[in-house]
Amino acid sequence: MFKRIRRNQIRSGMFIHAIEGSWFSHPFMKAGFLLTEADDVDALRTSRADAVVIDTARGLDVEPPPQAARETAETDAAAPESAPPEPERAVADAAETPEAVAVPIHAPGPTPPAAETAEGPCSLAEEFGRASRIAENAKLVMTELYDQARLGRIVEADTLVPLVDEIAASIARNQSALTSILRLKSKDEYTYVHSVAVAALMINLGREIGGFDRDTLRDAGVAGLLHDIGKMAMPPEVLGKPGDLTHAEYTIMKLHPERGHSLLTRSRDVPEMALDVCLHHHEKVNGTGYPKRLKGGQITLFARMGAACDVYDALTSNRPYKEAWVPNMALKTMFGSRGHFDSDILTAFIRSVGIYPVGTVVRLRSDHLAVVTDINPADLTRPVVRMFFSIPKRAAIAPQDVNLLVEADGDAIVSSENPEDWGLEGWEGRWATIAA
Ligand SMILES: [Fe+2]
Repeated sequence: MFKRIRRNQIRSGMFIHAIEGSWFSHPFMKAGFLLTEADDVDALRTSRADAVVIDTARGLDVEPPPQAARETAETDAAAPESAPPEPERAVADAAETPEAVAVPIHAPGPTPPAAETAEGPCSLAEEFGRASRIAENAKLVMTELYDQARLGRIVEADTLVPLVDEIAASIARNQSALTSILRLKSKDEYTYVHSVAVAALMINLGREIGGFDRDTLRDAGVAGLLHDIGKMAMPPEVLGKPGDLTHAEYTIMKLHPERGHSLLTRSRDVPEMALDVCLHHHEKVNGTGYPKRLKGGQITLFARMGAACDVYDALTSNRPYKEAWVPNMALKTMFGSRGHFDSDILTAFIRSVGIYPVGTVVRLRSDHLAVVTDINPADLTRPVVRMFFSIPKRAAIAPQDVNLLVEADGDAIVSSENPEDWGLEGWEGRWATIAA
């Protein structure tokens, strides 16, 4: 039986099913563990978590409270504050065992503006068609914008606001539909679609971190759309080169943040945040990035967010010079790149997309291929999947939905898979069929 309790009711021997609250509020990254260490008991009791959900079938229950307090035991979660979070420890754990780690606890963000929720949240299948149309429209808008930028013409950033609002509304309805579509892009359309994907990821990450108003998230979306606009000033033969760049070519490409920033400063209605993210999205927190070699706090929050979103989408996309990586391999690599990213931002980013993001093809212990169709915020290693392929039979099967958190019956994810390795060509079309 699951029971929601206050932090001061926590004691050794309880099975911690979930920890509720902001991701800044506690040092624990793994849900589903038996609380036995005194230090862990103290850390949880003195954290800023809103509440804790225990499983009394797998551990101790709360001690019987006085009668007067009993009625509030399962609903009230007020408690003192202290104990700073330990995101570094969590990141270290994740770097060592990426397949079975970082079971981030859902961190509810602020209540979205009313306009975003007017249509209410909906399922992946319900949002998929609308998200597909938004993605197609975004490609047209960005192709036009980038073509103009290539000619050196200024940007009128307020013309991007309707697109950003559509992206934000789609994410508010279903946080995964649009990002799952935008991740599947061809090499030819990479430059345009990447900018849209970064915009969507920025908004999604901002919602995960929480505390931003609608205008700020809108600026984050515009920043995502414009972050790489300086690439339009790069020589096409370098930008689209299928192989590794020479040192001289790489030196040229490293000029794109400044070239983009220069164009945007001459443009109209460009938010300050977009100027900042454009110029600084290749800075690294250890000071080895470019163009200014800024360190840590010298890099703004949104530039650090932009860096994570930019690299994740790049790694998981087919680019002219590199095939896409499966998402959790990209996340593993990012965790291993100590000094590149802000660890708090990276942890929040994983919470926002999941360890196995929606659309990821996975192999199950039951010898099926399945695709992730929803995230379980309480345990990102056990998402909802749709089985569609029998590995022993090497044949498609009637799709079957399985929530690996509550109805797995012993089944679990073994690994992420590249669908093309299984002969599943044209995955973009297959994903659309499966998701919708
Ligand atoms: Fe860039």
